[in-house]
Amino acid sequence: MSEERERLQEGQARFIVPQKLFFNPRARLARDFGVLGLRTEANLQERRLSVIDLMAGVGTRGIRYALEAPVERIVLNDANPEAAEAIRCNLSQNALPAEVQVEVTCEQAHRLCYALRLRDEGFDWVDLDAFGSPAVFWHAASLVVRWGGVLYFTATDMAALCGKLRDPAVRHYGAVTRPWECGDEVGARVLFGALQQSAGERGLYYEPLFVLDEGYAMRMAVRLHYGSSGFPVSQMGWLIKCMDCFSQKSVPLHVTVSKCRVCGSEDVQWAGPLWIGSLYNTEFLHLMSVEARQAGHQTALRLLRLMVDEADSPAGYYAAPELGKRTHLKRLPPVDALIQRLRLEGYLASRTHFETASLKTNAPYPVLQQIAEQLQ
Ligand SMILES: C[S@@+](CC[C@H](N)C(=O)[O-])C[C@H]1O[C@@H](n2cnc3c(N)ncnc32)[C@H](O)[C@@H]1O
Ligand SMILES: [Zn+2]
Repeated sequence: MSEERERLQEGQARFIVPQKLFFNPRARLARDFGVLGLRTEANLQERRLSVIDLMAGVGTRGIRYALEAPVERIVLNDANPEAAEAIRCNLSQNALPAEVQVEVTCEQAHRLCYALRLRDEGFDWVDLDAFGSPAVFWHAASLVVRWGGVLYFTATDMAALCGKLRDPAVRHYGAVTRPWECGDEVGARVLFGALQQSAGERGLYYEPLFVLDEGYAMRMAVRLHYGSSGFPVSQMGWLIKCMDCFSQKSVPLHVTVSKCRVCGSEDVQWAGPLWIGSLYNTEFLHLMSVEARQAGHQTALRLLRLMVDEADSPAGYYAAPELGKRTHLKRLPPVDALIQRLRLEGYLASRTHFETASLKTNAPYPVLQQIAEQLQ
């Protein structure tokens, strides 16, 4: 391989990144979550799995899958011929288990997925790590996920998802996103809602396993199911926010809201359509935590704990700094103390991995403010 840039190691993979090719060391956590998720899935299925890495770059992720999880077959693909050459070279630097069947392809992801589908080839784990919005690849990628298999995808169009750019959110997801304090979570819910909608068109639906918000990118692992009757219509909806008392609430798609149910204000905004159900499968998260503990991965363990905590909480969160500004309190009580008190008063309350200095609750916002003032 010409124009060598760097020799690197990540997890068990050793690899070289040529000068002209893309490799993002910051995406390590997403690759770690991919490995932990794939190991979990193999345990659940009690067998070695077939994997396709549709946009493999220099191959780090796919090589890690093959080295660190029970894989039976793996296809590493990248449309860039130089990347495909780098993948081949990097494969030769690593001693993959002899029983893993490895293929390297250099195709446009769409073209590859349609060709595989024509040959009836499906995969247990499909990795889709596109730049920007993944929406354009959902249809093709879903064609190669086995029913019951997992799609693990990336979105890096955070400005659109989190409400800073309105037009691309409408174009890619058919939804309104908002720059609210819980804008990241709105983005994750819009992202999954749009994927769900595209699956529903073809008599399929997805079940979320986890979402990992890294600030500059969103990663989601979702399980594909067959059948229209299972499509979770009641989990599609809107998130409504009152601009006067700041309370927020999710409602199903068919519900119209013109007034705040807490203070009666007509100054309400909505975001969506979006997914209003849980973004997590707690059984999957617990099993991933076992893998993370075995690997001694403290950051993953901390995030997985937060995800379990927020799995059954209402949609949307309130950021502590915003609460501080609105209450004019000199010192805001610790988030944990607020959560404990809300729970004592009979409300749901939890932290969230989207923003650690924030909390989720079904309490009306004025109640949260009152509790913050009392706890001063
Ligand atoms: C974000 S990088 C992948 C990084 C890699 N997954 C990792 O974790 O290191 C995206 C890759 O997708 C490739 N790519 C872009 N459009 C593609 C397409 N339509 N089909 C296949 N590969 C594509 C690019 O060449 C680039 O290497
Ligand atoms: Zn209100």
